[in-house]
Amino acid sequence: MEEQFPPLQNDLILRVARGETVERPPIWVMRQAGRYLPEYHEAKGGRDFFECCRDPEVASTLTLQPIERYAGLLDASIIFSDILVIPQAMGMVVEMVDKKGPHFPNPLRSPDDGQYAEVMQRHVDVAKELDYVYKAITLTRKKLNGRVPLFGFCGAPWTLFCYMVEGGGSKLFKEVKTWIYKYPEETKALLQKISELCVEYLALQVKAGAQLIQVFDSWAGELSPASFKKFSQPYLTYIAKHLPPRLKEMGLEPVPMVVFPKGAWYALDAACDMGYNIVGLDWLHDPAEAVKIVGDRPIVLQGNADPGVLYGSHAAITEAVTEMVKGFGWHSRKKGWIVNLGHGITPFVNPDDLKFFFQEIHRLTKTNAQ
Ligand code: CP3
Repeated sequence: MEEQFPPLQNDLILRVARGETVERPPIWVMRQAGRYLPEYHEAKGGRDFFECCRDPEVASTLTLQPIERYAGLLDASIIFSDILVIPQAMGMVVEMVDKKGPHFPNPLRSPDDGQYAEVMQRHVDVAKELDYVYKAITLTRKKLNGRVPLFGFCGAPWTLFCYMVEGGGSKLFKEVKTWIYKYPEETKALLQKISELCVEYLALQVKAGAQLIQVFDSWAGELSPASFKKFSQPYLTYIAKHLPPRLKEMGLEPVPMVVFPKGAWYALDAACDMGYNIVGLDWLHDPAEAVKIVGDRPIVLQGNADPGVLYGSHAAITEAVTEMVKGFGWHSRKKGWIVNLGHGITPFVNPDDLKFFFQEIHRLTKTNAQ
């Protein structure tokens, strides 16, 4: 039996995702539940980051914090979790180190170090291993009580692979470049395995109550255009191709799918043909150029203010919003755009400045505003 959830009161983002003309563009922000919010630190207390992800009560509380603080200004929520739960489900240890970010004590260093074979051979049951995520999603849907739709998400195979071999964030990407240029076939085999897990993981998130999904390819921009075609694009495409039939098999309706290939500006045209409904843009894109590249394809764009503008003055925020509204051609199109930042919101942003950003979007996209 599927869960029954309270009726949706705000379906703006779902209407835009379907290509409809709407009254104003929907808004949400990547990492909207996070460290810039004082209530996040309070609710998290001394708990470990992944411990919060694994506790549906805590994860749902954190997911709801921005929805409550910015009531009436935000049009979607995103489940509090992390992309690195997939490598964890694959048997890898991942720690979140305070102020440093994720750390893998035993990253995959070469195809013949034994661990690679183990990871490749291991049967991963994402239904069982990530059960806490589905529980958090179901509980969050209930607590949201229909206020706004809920996003599920996963990391893109390429980005997860980067973390699994680098062991954390990186500047040089020495390990990952060694893998793709020395061991391309072993790299592709692992990317394929991750892709299959992503499909099942996303399908189970939808079953649990996720109403849209996003695939985060945060490290796409580390690839050259030629290597993006080999190591990212086929796997992003695989997910978009296989998720809808998997949902159908499970007796579920398709959901809007977002792809966010951060930094791969050269791949925007390709991203529009990967099978996703929505393409996320980082702030390196000029919105007007992006709209031109989309052309008459039924693609919705999402983005793309520089998150750094939130460190600026209100005048700077107003200017950035004005440029964005104009760049996406909102007043002439009234469709095809979901407002977001060009990447996740960063720590130390004043939550009132984010509120001002939201208010400016609302003000400057009103029907009579130009
Ligand atoms: O509000 C939301 O967007 C939902 C929650 C969410 C988190 N991580 C919570 C989080 C989402 C969607 C993610 C995705 C994620 N995680 C990505 C893709 C998006 C992106 O930013 O590119 C990536 C690359 C990760 C991996 C990750 N997790 C990093 C690099 C870090 C540390 C750096 C940082 O900005 O904090 C995390 C930790 C993390 N994930 C925090 C949160 C709220 C901070 C944890 C803390 O210190 O309390």
